[in-house]
Order: sequence, then C-alpha cells, then structure tokens
Amino acid sequence: MVILTATHLHEIMKNRIAIINQKGGVGKTTTSLYLSRGLAQKGKKVLLIDLDPQAHSTLSLGIDPQEAMCGIHDVLLHRLDIKQAITQTEIPNFFLVPSHIRLDKAELELIHDPLGATKLKNTLKKLDDEFDFIIIDCRPTLGTLTYNALFACNMALVPCEISRYSLEGLYDLMDTIHNIEEGLANDFQFKILLNRFDSRKKVSNEWFLDQIAKHRNILLNTFIRVCEPLNQAHMTNASVLNIDPKCSGALDYQQLTQEILDLCQN
Ligand SMILES: Nc1ncnc2c1ncn2[C@@H]1O[C@H](COP(=O)(O)OP(=O)(O)OP(=O)(O)O)[C@@H](O)[C@H]1O
Ligand SMILES: [Mg+2]
Repeated sequence: MVILTATHLHEIMKNRIAIINQKGGVGKTTTSLYLSRGLAQKGKKVLLIDLDPQAHSTLSLGIDPQEAMCGIHDVLLHRLDIKQAITQTEIPNFFLVPSHIRLDKAELELIHDPLGATKLKNTLKKLDDEFDFIIIDCRPTLGTLTYNALFACNMALVPCEISRYSLEGLYDLMDTIHNIEEGLANDFQFKILLNRFDSRKKVSNEWFLDQIAKHRNILLNTFIRVCEPLNQAHMTNASVLNIDPKCSGALDYQQLTQEILDLCQN
C-alpha cells in the first residue's frame, strides 16, 4: 500500500505536458497545437500556455500578441493572476495563455530570482482542477523558462527528428533532466516523439532506432510522418489547424492524442 504524505499529495499534478527540445524547428509548436486540439476534440478541457517569446502558438491561433490584453510574461512577473490571462480559442474546450516578445525580459528577471525556476509551478496551483490537460509550448533553449515548464509538469514530450545532431541534443536534454530530478514531479515521465518521419530513409531510420534501442521505453509508439499539408498550413498562416483531416499529419496527431490519453490519468 502506498501511503501518501501531505507533501506527496501536494506534488501530484494532473496531466501537465511540457513540449520541449532545445533544438529549434523540430515540431514543438506543431505538436503543442495539434495535441491540444486533439485532446479538446476528445472532450477534454485543455489549456495551452505559450512559453516561447517567439509566440508561434499564439500567432497560429490567430491572436496578435501585440493586441492581447495580457500574456504569460505578466503572470510570471506577478503582475497578474493567470486566470485573467486565459483566452478562449475558436475551438471548443481549447484555451490559451498567449505569449509576447516581452517574455524575453521576464526570463532575464527570473534568472536573478532564487525561486525563479518554480514560478510557473506555483502559479498553476491556482488553477486546481480547472483543466484536464495543460500543455506548455517551450522555446528552443534550456534556460529558465524551460526549467519553469519542467518543474510545472509531469511529462516532458520531446519532438525529435532522425539525425545525428538530434540524438546528441537528446542525450544533453536527458542529462539536464537527470540533474534536476529531485525537483521534478514524483510521477514525471520523459517521452520522445519522432517527427518528420520518412519511411523511405531506411538506413537512417534503422541507425537512429538502433542508437536509442536502450531507451525504447521512452519512445512513443506514434511517429509523426513528414507531411506537406502541415508545413503549407504553417507557411500560408491560414488557420494552421485547418488542414485536410485525412492527411498523414492529421491522422498521426489523432493517434498521438489517443496514446497520450492512454498514458495519462483521465
Ligand atoms: N511532420 C511535419 N511534416 C512537415 N512539416 C512539419 C512537420 N512538423 C513540423 N513541420 C514544419 O516545420 C516547421 C517548424 O515546426 P515548429 O514551428 O512546430 O517547430 P518548433 O520546434 O516549434 O520551432 P521553434 O524551435 O522555432 O519553436 C514549421 O514550418 C512546421 O510546419
Ligand atoms: Mg515553436
């Protein structure tokens, strides 16, 4: 029998997923958006927090960061209650806390605060059970903002491409997470999501899968195939989520949604 102490109970977080990779352009924002939408379409109430000063998730959801009343930077600098920064998207059940370039400045201030890396975790306590899932889209660095996401979540979901440098980045990330293990949630999970998978690149695929064979348990079963409609939606900035529901990207993200639901407590 597991006896939960007050501290343990305090540490339990419900379905909070940080989408991270210090490497740029690997599909963090794409995964944040499609996973959030997929979960929302399954009837889950989802909050996406855009924790990247580039504000790509915010922009992709048709919100101009300059025009948003407030964003995550206001929250992290304690000027605002997170509930006031939440905005409804066009998709039912799907809510967003927008980002803004000023988040860069917030990160600089957090670096000098001894408790700066746990600000987001403490802030999210205010939301209690309001959301079934909280997804955090991170910036491509391993700085204070990304540490905030890791401490605030119980899953790190790492989109990753098949290349030698991706693999090296992945090992660096695993090292970083190992070094902060004590501050992470008790039920913290680390999961790799292969993105832009191309089944024609047999030799590269086999090499990569061979290299991470010893970590097979952290590789998700779902692979996101390379999918031109996903890329085109991004380029044209028509509603990014408005892609052909039968294209491989849409189908793969549906499968990912189900895999995440199966992994998490519902
Ligand atoms: N499976 C895919 N097939 C085709 N294009 C993809 C796929 N996944 C992502 N892309 C495209 O790759 C580009 C980078 O994706 P995305 O913005 O999601 O990466 P990111 O990791 O969030 O980048 P950053 O590090 O700058 O935040 C985008 O143009 C996106 O549309
Ligand atoms: Mg991004």
